[in-house]
Amino acid sequence: MSKHFPKQDTAYHKDPRQYDRTRGLPDGVQEAIVAHLLAKIGVGDAMLDLGAGSGRFAIPLAERGARVFAADLSAEMLRHLLGKCAQKSACPLLVQADAMRLPFRSAAFGSAFSVHTLHLVENLTTAIKEIERVLKNGGFFALGYIEHEADSPIGWVLENWRRALAARGYDLSRPMWRRHSQIVAALRQKFGPPHIVIAAQWQGVISPAEALRSAAERLFTPYWGLPDEEHVAIIAELERAATEFFGNLNAPLQDTRRFVWHFFEIHRREA
Ligand SMILES: C[S@@+](CC[C@H](N)C(=O)[O-])C[C@H]1O[C@@H](n2cnc3c(N)ncnc32)[C@H](O)[C@@H]1O
Repeated sequence: MSKHFPKQDTAYHKDPRQYDRTRGLPDGVQEAIVAHLLAKIGVGDAMLDLGAGSGRFAIPLAERGARVFAADLSAEMLRHLLGKCAQKSACPLLVQADAMRLPFRSAAFGSAFSVHTLHLVENLTTAIKEIERVLKNGGFFALGYIEHEADSPIGWVLENWRRALAARGYDLSRPMWRRHSQIVAALRQKFGPPHIVIAAQWQGVISPAEALRSAAERLFTPYWGLPDEEHVAIIAELERAATEFFGNLNAPLQDTRRFVWHFFEIHRREA
């Protein structure tokens, strides 16, 4: 029996600028991610960015001529995106929307993609049904996530955070804590096996102490949602375990990061 948990607000309301400060990608990485997406789905048909956030991908796609709709639950994030567009050659069309109730007609898009968002939706099955509904038959849905090595500081902290939650009886399939592999499995069940592309790989450098600090400060969504007292207790547990695993917590370590696209082709059985 998993612990009761109140419904969470997963929209980024607070500080869209902080999002850009903390989620920057090295030179060339964003371009490679966008190029792999365009190579697979082209720019001809309307494209949906589900959970577009600050437009990390929707803006460069619009600049390359894609007719991209940037949908996000957060009006603040969309306003921030619009502000950034002022210095750009093109802007996506902005739509405030919940992934579980998309305000688009059926088969409106030739393709859709979503980066670091489907772990946030309240009901993954409902969101996947909506994705299928708004896509044309023969279209593509692309899921994008950054992956870390399991023994890198970021990968280790995230995995051990989830283990600590599970040990306390929390349900890891709920929003924010849901694993990337669970999202891929749900999409695979609906659409069949994906075509997987590693769009970019790069090296970061981070100490275990910094990775723990970003968890303690709840910088990333997997660290949202837990009452403060329990959050602090788990971070203290992780600090002890990290000292055993890494030794010196302040020593900077290499962290290999990969941006992976999972492309799912939509084959709907028409009624
Ligand atoms: C981690 S950010 C990712 C933003 C962007 N895709 C990127 O990679 O930079 C997640 C975004 O999803 C939005 N979001 C959260 N829950 C959502 C929902 N149910 N429907 C649509 N967007 C949602 C948040 O407001 C936030 O902008």
